[in-house]
Amino acid sequence: MTECVQIGDCTLYRGDCLEVMPMLDKVDHVITDPPYEKIMHDSKNSSRVMKGGANAGLRKLDFGPIDSIRGEFVRLSSNVCDGWFVAFCTVEGVARWADAINPAAMKYKRACTWIKPDSTPQLNGQGPAQGAECFVTAWAGKGHARWNAGGKRGVYQHCVNGPTRHGGHPTEKPIPLMSELVADFTNPGQTILDPFMGSGTTGVACAKMGRRFIGIELDAKYFDIACKRIEEAYSQPDFFVQPAPAYKQEPML
Ligand SMILES: C[S@@+](CC[C@H](N)C(=O)[O-])C[C@H]1O[C@@H](n2cnc3c(N)ncnc32)[C@H](O)[C@@H]1O
Repeated sequence: MTECVQIGDCTLYRGDCLEVMPMLDKVDHVITDPPYEKIMHDSKNSSRVMKGGANAGLRKLDFGPIDSIRGEFVRLSSNVCDGWFVAFCTVEGVARWADAINPAAMKYKRACTWIKPDSTPQLNGQGPAQGAECFVTAWAGKGHARWNAGGKRGVYQHCVNGPTRHGGHPTEKPIPLMSELVADFTNPGQTILDPFMGSGTTGVACAKMGRRFIGIELDAKYFDIACKRIEEAYSQPDFFVQPAPAYKQEPML
């Protein structure tokens, strides 16, 4: 059973994205943070630090891995998307996403990197700590791919635990990171779909930046957090959200 809530220009569905996506009209872009691969869910490192109150401390990921639904999800995305497909993944997951995207009606572009300067150190000293995640990009639109950031490199640097962190979801993305992606890949007034919305960070960035947003989330507790955060994004002045840095084109050689 799918529940639908409208908040400003954001339409939020509580349900399974594989069931909701076939019912949607075309969107301009898909920007999303899907579950990790099974191998990462099973790893000892899959517990995430939660911030604040009853959620404080380490918590195991409480949603399933992407593996069994990745192919179908990519197919549905290529049907519904008229522009960029942007999906976060682990460094180890990039090749699996590229393999799923290549047969679909989208053009795989490249993997970009999110560097986390405050990521948890490898406390046992037995090797390097994980300091980055990736996101894959593909173009599902007509003609040549277009974005707003000129020749900028696909490297983004944002702390995990910045001042705008809500702390209610184990894999919450920073609002400044999602704001930079929204600024680079989308234009005001366009519609962005996040089929794995979690606690709604992509929606918060869209609400703050004048984009329409469609979010889908399976888990009722994360759906409720997303609704509250997006309501607050519309009602509160921007004390903490940093505007995405303006891109300056480097001189062409
Ligand atoms: C990596 S998290 C997204 C976190 C989000 N970026 C944030 O900042 O809060 C992925 C989310 O996808 C949800 N999910 C998993 N399978 C789903 C499905 N089939 N349909 C909709 N949501 C799903 C999980 O419950 C989880 O909250």
